[in-house]
Amino acid sequence: MQRTSAILLVAALVLAGLSGWLLWRTANNAPLGPGAEQSVSLGGPFALIDQNGRPKTDRDFHGRWTLLYFGYTYCPDVCPTTLAMIEKALAKMGPPAQAVTPVFVSVDPERDTPSVLKAYLKSFGPQFVGLTGSPAQVAQVAKAYRVYYAKQTLPGGTYAVEHSSVIYLLDPKGRLVKVYDDQTQSADLAKDLNAVIASGAG
Ligand code: NI
Repeated sequence: MQRTSAILLVAALVLAGLSGWLLWRTANNAPLGPGAEQSVSLGGPFALIDQNGRPKTDRDFHGRWTLLYFGYTYCPDVCPTTLAMIEKALAKMGPPAQAVTPVFVSVDPERDTPSVLKAYLKSFGPQFVGLTGSPAQVAQVAKAYRVYYAKQTLPGGTYAVEHSSVIYLLDPKGRLVKVYDDQTQSADLAKDLNAVIASGAG
C-alpha cells in the first residue's frame, strides 16, 4: 500500500466518524441490546468465500469475537505488519484469545483467490480466516464498513491497492464494538481485548 495523504485523510475521516458515533452513543447511554444494530451505520451482512473455498457470511462469525481487517496479500508493508501485530496480540492474551477470530478480508479479489489467501495466512497462524469473493461481493462488504480501496497502476504492468487500514472489533452478535488503528501495539490490543471480553461488553 502506498501511504499517500489521501489514505491518511480517509482513515482520519473514518476514525473521526467512528469516534463521534461512539461518543454519541456514550453520551446518549444508548443500550447495546437487541435491535441496537439498527442504529449502527457501520458493518452489516456480507457473503464471501473463505480461504478453503467455502461460502461464509457474517452470521458464521456470530458467537465469537471477531477482529476484521481489510487488505490484500500483495501489500508490501502495512498489511503484513498489522496481521503480525494481531497475531502477537492474540498470543499475549492467553486463554481468552480462543474466543477471538481474526479475519482478513481481501480488497484485491482479482489476485487474492482462496488458495492465495490460504498460503499467505499460513505465516500468521491457523486462527486466521481469509475472505475474498467476487469484486461485487468485496465492494459490498467494503462499503458496509466504509473501507476505501483503489487500484494504483505500477510500472511493469502490475498494480498496488491503496486501502484504509482500520481494525474492527465485532462482538459475538456481530455488532461493531470499537475500532483500532494500525499503529496499535500488540500489548495494548491484547490488554484491551481481554478487558472488553471480560466485561462482556458488546
Ligand atoms: Ni495493505
